[in-house]
Amino acid sequence: MGYLPEKLQNKLTEREKINTLRALPKGARGVDFSSNDYLGIAHNPMVFEKAVNILSEKGIIINGATGSRLLTGNDILFKEVEELLGNIHQAESALIFNSGYDANIGLFSSVPQRDDIVLYDEFIHASIRDGITMGKAKNYKFRHNDLNDLLSQIRRGQKNENNGTNSQIYIVTESVFSMDGDSPDLVGLSAMCNKYGCHLIVDEAHAIGLFGSNGGGKIQELKLQENVFARIITFGKALGCHGAAVLGSRELSTYLINFARSFIYTTALPPHTLATVMAAYQFMNSSAGLREIELLHENIAHFNREKERLNISSFFISSSSAIHSCIIKGNKEVKQIAQKIQKESFDIRPILSPTVPQGEERLRFCLHSFNSKEDINSILQKLAIAIKKL
Ligand SMILES: Cc1ncc(COP(=O)(O)O)c(C=O)c1O
Repeated sequence: MGYLPEKLQNKLTEREKINTLRALPKGARGVDFSSNDYLGIAHNPMVFEKAVNILSEKGIIINGATGSRLLTGNDILFKEVEELLGNIHQAESALIFNSGYDANIGLFSSVPQRDDIVLYDEFIHASIRDGITMGKAKNYKFRHNDLNDLLSQIRRGQKNENNGTNSQIYIVTESVFSMDGDSPDLVGLSAMCNKYGCHLIVDEAHAIGLFGSNGGGKIQELKLQENVFARIITFGKALGCHGAAVLGSRELSTYLINFARSFIYTTALPPHTLATVMAAYQFMNSSAGLREIELLHENIAHFNREKERLNISSFFISSSSAIHSCIIKGNKEVKQIAQKIQKESFDIRPILSPTVPQGEERLRFCLHSFNSKEDINSILQKLAIAIKKL
């Protein structure tokens, strides 16, 4: 018999009762409409081989990093990959973290100070919320993608906080929201930050590999690099590998190396991972990689046309990214529809509350360059039949 203190057991029982108990899924289940491997790089054998070649050309034969980056873990590949990231993403500096979760925890817990204010979009990723919570700044959410609400909060913040404390305001958003697939008005947001002297931080996890001339992200697509204080990029989505980086000034990197605890107190990424990140970027910027980006956009356009044709667009949050969410109220209902579609050999996952707010449970479609038009037609037809029976 396993042992768990009663109050913890009660929490699990409560979740079971209201249909919100999380459990690990049992492996892949059919045609992929669920993973973040938007360009198929995770399964690309050329990228795998290239990573092995990078390691062998450099004579790197090591299984693990052996320590924190501040001790023995700072393999020579870090410098090379960080330079590559700086060039590709047109940033003065890039600092690699072990994951997007770690990058956000490290950045948001260490940068905003006690007298500062963080204003964040209400749908911001959990890793950012956790980082903010670990920090000491006051923090307030603004309504999703609502610049008017943000503006009134900036004004309120400036009125209350301008009491000689040199209070800074940080504004936080995602360039593609992970659960909704939509985007804020980044041009408007950056103009507002300029006007009111706020620091803009943008998580680009789901925009890398989709937007910008070489998959560099939305900020680059809009040429806003100079207006953003920090960008978070992750390698576990379109790049198909693992890890993340914070892009910003050299001074920001130096600050994070000194104060971001999730950077300091952890074993560094292994050289295999760095070689894979390098190989993945090289692929993404090759003609074959750029073709994958094109195919992904063709599939996004096809998906949007097909849901119009089937008259089910109103169930979806409007999106031109790889993420398309179909709102189906209720954990039980969304689970049932997901199971029906899964039985037809499609890998599609329900997103339940509390991951999303109650009443906004959803089927989250992740589109890929390798999805066929036939599979897109077929999964949407099955969805249309299921939701019309609701
Ligand atoms: C917007 C956003 N930021 C950060 C992360 C965390 O990235 P990682 O998976 O590399 O920890 C995710 C992943 O779920 C995400 O969607």
